[in-house]
Amino acid sequence: MGDHFAQAEHGTIPALRWEEPPEGPVLVLLDQTRLPQEEVEIVCTDVQALVQAIRSLSLRGAPLLGIAGAYGVALAAARGYDVNDAAELLAHARPTAVNLEYGVRRALTAFRDAPPHQGPAAALAQARSLHAQDAAASTAMAGYGSQLLAELVTGGGYRILTHCNTGALVSGGEGTALGVVLAVHRAGELRRLWVDETRPLLQGSRLTAYEAARAEMPYTLLADSAAGSLFTAGEVDAVLVGADRIAADGSTANKVGSYPLAVIARYHNVPFIVVAPTTTVDLSTPDGASIEVEHRAGSEVTDLAPTPLGTQAYNPAFDVTPPELITAIVTENGVVSPVTAAALSAVCAAGPGDVKG
Ligand code: MRU
Repeated sequence: MGDHFAQAEHGTIPALRWEEPPEGPVLVLLDQTRLPQEEVEIVCTDVQALVQAIRSLSLRGAPLLGIAGAYGVALAAARGYDVNDAAELLAHARPTAVNLEYGVRRALTAFRDAPPHQGPAAALAQARSLHAQDAAASTAMAGYGSQLLAELVTGGGYRILTHCNTGALVSGGEGTALGVVLAVHRAGELRRLWVDETRPLLQGSRLTAYEAARAEMPYTLLADSAAGSLFTAGEVDAVLVGADRIAADGSTANKVGSYPLAVIARYHNVPFIVVAPTTTVDLSTPDGASIEVEHRAGSEVTDLAPTPLGTQAYNPAFDVTPPELITAIVTENGVVSPVTAAALSAVCAAGPGDVKG
């Protein structure tokens, strides 16, 4: 029995699902490293396999990491592994997306607080609840994001630039930034989606282009370094990106290359909009400098093209955009604009629909 949630309704293979075959529960992941050439699934029977999938980016993107973390705890519990050890391993599989630790802690707390022998069921219920909550957050963010675009951009239809991959592949629903793009596309208002290649791992050209093509969006791929000339040509109405961690002051860590886009967008007076659920906001991280940025193997850069033997590479997976460069943060509870610590904390405390923005 699988849980397909919202993605299946729209023809997208679910990024992750829980199954219970006779041999015991498993977590089934769509291997994102093989897309778009092949839709291949990975079947995880233990937490080690899940951690490996997370580190290799077979499963990636902040909201999905949180959901996977919660299911990982449920998997360890259901299969009789040491749940505390499993939780520790999972929570630190990657350091930047705060959703991962959030999902792990949520399922772990449910496991620990459950009556005797009911821990595994409680952890699974928590994972399912987070999965469904994230699907609902996607829908709400798509609504708020669409309204915001209507307020900020005039002239009929939007030309949106996006970076990395933020759609159904990283969510319990239709995604964060790409979920908003999908909503305006369905409303007939998307003139063009500009898709940054997103070097070095090419989440844009491999994954966002895959999702955009499936949804029949008008999209065009560009090398990351071509974005500046696109702004100069007046071809961008708004930049929409996701987030891996938003600090209490609104500083936002997202895929490396987001910060330069925010700088260029400000120079050209184009809105730079972050779309993220409140599970990505970490009020215990005070500012951007306190966000741990993952650094990955230099070979991810040097393997892209022939380089002289021994070449070293600088390969941060994320960069941090300061709040003053962010026009708005769109959450499932409403829109934060201007981005201030007080407004961000209020949106986190509010329930869906409580904040108009
Ligand atoms: O290294 P990745 O591919 O996991 O990075 C993902 C991103 O930076 C996304 O933009 C972010 O997680 C938001 S996903 C809704």
